[in-house]
Amino acid sequence: MKTIWVFLFALLCYQAESAGFNGLGQTPQMGWNNFNHFPVGIHEQIIRETADAIITTGLSKLGYVYVNIDDRWANLDRDSQGNLVANSTTFPSGIKALADYVHSKGLKIGIYSDAGNQTCAKTQPGSLGYEEQDANIFASWGIDYLKYDNCHNEGVDTKQRYTKMSKALNKTGRSIFYSLCEWGQEDPATWGPKIANSWRTTGDIHDDWHRMTSTADKNDKWASYAGPGGWNDPDMLEVGNGKMSTEEYRSHFSIWALMKAPLLLGCDIRSMSPETVEIITNEEVIQVNQDSLGVQGKKVSKKGKLEVWAGPLSNKRYTFILWNRSPESASITAKWKDIGPSDDSVFKARDLWNHSDLQDTFQGSLTSTVDSHACKMYILTPSSS
Ligand code: GLA
Repeated sequence: MKTIWVFLFALLCYQAESAGFNGLGQTPQMGWNNFNHFPVGIHEQIIRETADAIITTGLSKLGYVYVNIDDRWANLDRDSQGNLVANSTTFPSGIKALADYVHSKGLKIGIYSDAGNQTCAKTQPGSLGYEEQDANIFASWGIDYLKYDNCHNEGVDTKQRYTKMSKALNKTGRSIFYSLCEWGQEDPATWGPKIANSWRTTGDIHDDWHRMTSTADKNDKWASYAGPGGWNDPDMLEVGNGKMSTEEYRSHFSIWALMKAPLLLGCDIRSMSPETVEIITNEEVIQVNQDSLGVQGKKVSKKGKLEVWAGPLSNKRYTFILWNRSPESASITAKWKDIGPSDDSVFKARDLWNHSDLQDTFQGSLTSTVDSHACKMYILTPSSS
């Protein structure tokens, strides 16, 4: 009898752990952040207009709900009580008013600070030594999300700095999604799940094919640490920022979705091309990212620059991507033995970018031709279901 209770207690602890430390982020976060498109020059009007555009474009209905402000929103000096103050020129209405506006649209608002003395842009103070005070003011403004950066940290122990803010956020009593931005320097995947909802595994992404592909590879290494409540973060999306081709952006979005990465848009939502809209609104791909099983897909085979990335989904399904990173069109084969199911399993396949079911059923493998820098993405469903 005693053994059963011990077992049940252990199971409960395991479930509490696997659900994450504060119950948020049961699926990867979705929304927008200004930094990739507006690394400088951010002001409150852009935030308001972006919130409006997230509604009018229908993006919020697809799950893009966080509107996140990055670096450069605060004055360089704290006020006489030591509180952070919004930059009076660029955010004259203050963050509370902006949060009220974003909330009035049914969206959530995120803010940025730094686990050091100053933020990376050196234009505002960091929160090191002010963790509780800053967490309290964020909560009082109605903040729903904190991105917490790593510049000017004075060499203070990393886990200690990030844990302090985690505790401070929890103590406010407000549900605040906690996103570590430690750039993967001290393997945050191994300690992030206990204190945060996501953790950057890499340095900054750039709007560039090579940087995007190498960022994906770095994040891949940590796949087994992700799960409901806490996700690996290979940085925000560059889709729509202009320096990659449509097929490269399609690959970027597909791989991020399969890796259960945060889907934080980084383009100007107010003026998107039809190609950008087509990519970021693909509901079938978004559903892979938001699947309840919450298992990060990974690179399962590689022949030169021809790759297969795959992972399991809920209801005995699998998803996989044929990714051609070579300069020429090529045929790529996904083999069940690499993806997971037994070789003799028979599946129906759906092409998530064509939005069509393939006519045949497939046993053991699926082969298709893929253009240079493009990808094809599928869901396999057991043919008996
Ligand atoms: C760091 C972060 C970026 C961004 C900038 C802002 O580089 O990694 O994501 O927040 O700081 O200055």
